Amino acid sequence: MATEKLRLGVNIDHVATVRNARGGAYPDPLRAAKIAEEAGADGITAHLREDRRHISDADIDGLMEVLSVPLNFEMAATPEMQAIALRHKPHAVCIVPERREERTTEGGLEVAREENQLAHFIAPLRDAGCRVSIFIAADRRQIEAAHRIGAQVIELHTGAYCDAHAEGRLDERDVELARLRDMSTFAHSLGLEVHAGHGLTYDTVGPVAAFPEVRELNIGHFIIGEAIFRGLAPAITEMRQIMDAARADQVA
Ligand code: PXP
Repeated sequence: MATEKLRLGVNIDHVATVRNARGGAYPDPLRAAKIAEEAGADGITAHLREDRRHISDADIDGLMEVLSVPLNFEMAATPEMQAIALRHKPHAVCIVPERREERTTEGGLEVAREENQLAHFIAPLRDAGCRVSIFIAADRRQIEAAHRIGAQVIELHTGAYCDAHAEGRLDERDVELARLRDMSTFAHSLGLEVHAGHGLTYDTVGPVAAFPEVRELNIGHFIIGEAIFRGLAPAITEMRQIMDAARADQVA
């Protein structure tokens, strides 16, 4: 297959996490989003959580106003979030599971178990012109269900692969990577656009970036962490370079 450009979506949630640790307005996630754009981000991702622990409603208003690149609005499948998405009509909506007690989005959505409700939930978002993505584990059953409910995109959860790498469980890491590769191919064969993300770092991004079916990676925590040491723009530039190099190697 022809390899298309791999997009980088920069998740700015944790700029808001730092801001909210003190209250007030600093550091401003909108400023981070503009720097990310200039540094080569193809999109900005923000997760408006039910408890508003990082991104706020005002941040979403501001992002819709100032961004030149598309906003990928991450949200739980709740009526409140659906109403906010329909008001803003962002370029993309990514439906994620959400539990208050979790520190981050720990697993993928159980699409197969909630197929009917999810099909009804995403229909108005699609009708409003949003590209609907579903965040799921690299699991055939979930991919088939995401396809059946009418999602245009799936985002594969890369957390298990990244955790295995970070903890030195290299055999498991390789198994997870092979699963991500096979499921990217499978999802693409159904006509779904394939994205991936969660926990990706400079060390783990290359092999995923090399999958020709993957069109977009969404990366947040590592980039914002790295920005503390070297600045946001250089942190993003290096991520972009590693992604592009992995992609080019795959084509060569
Ligand atoms: N994609 C989705 C759907 C997510 O929920 C998250 C985390 O908010 C990410 C990507 C980015 O993960 P990380 O912050 O670990 O890079």
